[in-house]
Amino acid sequence: MPIKLALLGATGNLGTEIRKEALARGHQVTAIVRSQSRLAAQANLSVVAGDAYDETGLVGVLRGHDAFISAFSPDRAEPIEDKPNRLRQSHRAIIGAAKRSGVKRFILVGGVGSLWYAPGVLVVDAPEYGHANRGPTLANKEILEWLKTEDHGLDWTYISPPRIIEAGERTGHFRLGLDDLVRDDKGLSRISRADFAIAAVDELENPAHLRKRFTIAY
Ligand SMILES: NC(=O)c1ccc[n+]([C@@H]2O[C@H](COP(=O)([O-])OP(=O)(O)OC[C@H]3O[C@@H](n4cnc5c(N)ncnc54)[C@H](OP(=O)(O)O)[C@@H]3O)[C@@H](O)[C@H]2O)c1
Repeated sequence: MPIKLALLGATGNLGTEIRKEALARGHQVTAIVRSQSRLAAQANLSVVAGDAYDETGLVGVLRGHDAFISAFSPDRAEPIEDKPNRLRQSHRAIIGAAKRSGVKRFILVGGVGSLWYAPGVLVVDAPEYGHANRGPTLANKEILEWLKTEDHGLDWTYISPPRIIEAGERTGHFRLGLDDLVRDDKGLSRISRADFAIAAVDELENPAHLRKRFTIAY
């Protein structure tokens, strides 16, 4: 059965791959975009205007869908110091809209920093993580806590990418993990965007991580 999927961030790095993967599997995708000129409609793809910070507008767009995936990220042109608050504002609207729209199935593409790097040490606190992304990473970690602890009634799944997510081959071979960073035998935590999208659409089709976070890497 085709799934009627609403996809926010459908023009972004990860959202583009999720959109392509979902369409290739025959699902009906509604891409929610800031500017409709960014994407052309095609068979099984509708393109509708929506703003990640506008909860009420999103409610109207989401209604009637079977599932909602957000691969949104704040505009890269905005100052980095604003990003933590922009993440909080947008995700209040996104989660609020999911709740009000009645679309219970919600998959959020989040961040790597809240995974465990080692026992008792989060990735965000690992020596190699650096400080540039600390603010946004902590905001993403907070958003995961909202999903875990608040009374929103959503069948949510939070997907943490690995440390490195980049253009590359669609192999279909990868490993899933829960709250621990997944690394290969060289210690690298990485995946191609195309393989990430396979895992996201697999989860959409066959929910295996309801009200949980999972991660994916080679
Ligand atoms: N290792 C990691 O932790 C890691 C690495 C990569 C990504 N991620 C996470 O993955 C998610 C997606 O990242 P990405 O790299 O794919 O992002 P991206 O390429 O920057 O794409 C962001 C998407 O959000 C859209 N957008 C921006 N502002 C919007 C607004 N006001 N209303 C509606 N849409 C808006 C953009 O649309 P336009 O086309 O209009 O700009 C674009 O489609 C983020 O949560 C990010 O934190 C995590």
